Amino acid sequence: MERGVNVKRTGAPTKPMLRALAGETLARPPFWLMRQAGRYLPEYRELRQGAASFLDFCFSPDRATEATLQPIRRFGFDAAILFSDILVVPHALGRAVGFREGEGPVLEKLRQREEVDALTCDGVPERLAPVYETVRRVRKALPAETALIGFAGGPWTVATYMVEGGTSRDFGAVKRWAFGDAEGFGVLIEHIAAATIEHLSAQIASGAEAVQIFESWAGVLEADAFRRLVIAPTRQIVTSLQARHPHVPIIGFPRGAGLMYRAYVSETGVNAIGLDSAVPCEVARKTLQSLAPVQGNLDPMLLLVGGAAMERAVGNIVHAFKDGPFVFNLGHGVLPETPVANVARLVEILRG
Ligand code: CP3
Repeated sequence: MERGVNVKRTGAPTKPMLRALAGETLARPPFWLMRQAGRYLPEYRELRQGAASFLDFCFSPDRATEATLQPIRRFGFDAAILFSDILVVPHALGRAVGFREGEGPVLEKLRQREEVDALTCDGVPERLAPVYETVRRVRKALPAETALIGFAGGPWTVATYMVEGGTSRDFGAVKRWAFGDAEGFGVLIEHIAAATIEHLSAQIASGAEAVQIFESWAGVLEADAFRRLVIAPTRQIVTSLQARHPHVPIIGFPRGAGLMYRAYVSETGVNAIGLDSAVPCEVARKTLQSLAPVQGNLDPMLLLVGGAAMERAVGNIVHAFKDGPFVFNLGHGVLPETPVANVARLVEILRG
C-alpha cells in the first residue's frame, strides 16, 4: 500500500518540503543538500570503514539507515535522502559494478547489442530488497517534519556509466553508440527506464514521499539527442510513476541542461526542477519557477569556501526565489573536503 503520508488523508501535505513541492510558497524555504550524507562528515567516514565495499554499504540496511540519518541528526534538514547510489540499477540488471578508492565507480563495459538483449528487469525489485528495507527503517525513524526522498539516476546518465565503464571525459563510446546505432542504444535506454520505474515505485511503496531523478550528464548532449535520450525516457518514467503514485512528487535534476531546462520541465511533466549552479537565478525565476517549484542552486565550492562569499550567494538565491515555490539546495553534491562548520553556518542562515 502507498504510504504517501497525509497527502491522501488530508488532501494537503504538512511537511515543509512536501508543501513546497506541492507548489506552496513558504516564508522560510525548506532545505536539504545533495550528498548531505558522505565523506565530509567524520561520523560517515567512521561508519564507512566498517563495510567491505561501497555496494555492501548500500545493501546493508543497518549501515545505510544510519548514514541517511546522520546529517538529519546533526543539521535537522527538512528532507532526508535515502543512502544508496544510482549504480545499484546496473547491478540489479546483472552488470558488475565496483567502486575503487579515489577513482570512483568501475563497471563491466557494455558494448555489444547481444549484452543489451541479455539484460532483464525481472527480479530488479528482489535484487534491491535491502534498499527498500532501508527506506522502511528510515521512514520510521525520521522526525515528524522531515520528508524522505528516494532517487534513481536518469536513464541516459546510468547508460553513460554502463557503456563507458565509469566516469568519462568525452563520452566517446556512449555517444558513438547512441548516434551510430540509435535503435540498439534505444533498447538499452528502454531497459534502464523500465528498471528505474520498478526501483522508484518500490521505494515509494516502502515509504519514500518524493523521488529525485539525477540526470547528472544531461549537459553533454546536443538538443535532438537531449530530447531523445533525456526527455523521452524521463517522460515515460514520470507518466508511469504518476499513474501508480499520483500524490508523490518527482523532482527532475538535469544537470547542465542550460537552454534545454524549460523543455525538460514542460515536456517530461516532472513536479519540481533541480537547478545546477550555472543557471542564473533571475532566469530561472522568470522562466522555470512559473512552471514548477524550483530547487537549488548554491555552488558546492562556495559551501566549501564559506565566509562572506557563501553568505552573499545564499542571500541572493533565497531572495531571487522568495515569491514562489522553492527548496534551497546546492547545484550539485557536497564536496568531501567541505568543512562541517560551513554547513552548520549555512543551516543557521537558512533558519533565519
Ligand atoms: O547523500 C546523498 O545524496 C545520498 C546518497 C547518494 C550517493 N550517490 C552516495 C555516494 C546519491 C544521491 C548518489 C547519486 C549519484 N551517484 C550520482 C548522481 C549525483 C551526482 O553526483 O552527479 C552519481 C553520478 C553517482 C555515481 C557515483 N557514486 C560516483 C561518480 C561516485 C564516486 C565519486 C565519489 O564521490 O566518490 C559514487 C560513490 C558514492 N556515492 C559515494 C557516496 C557517499 C562516495 C563513496 C565512498 O563513501 O567511498
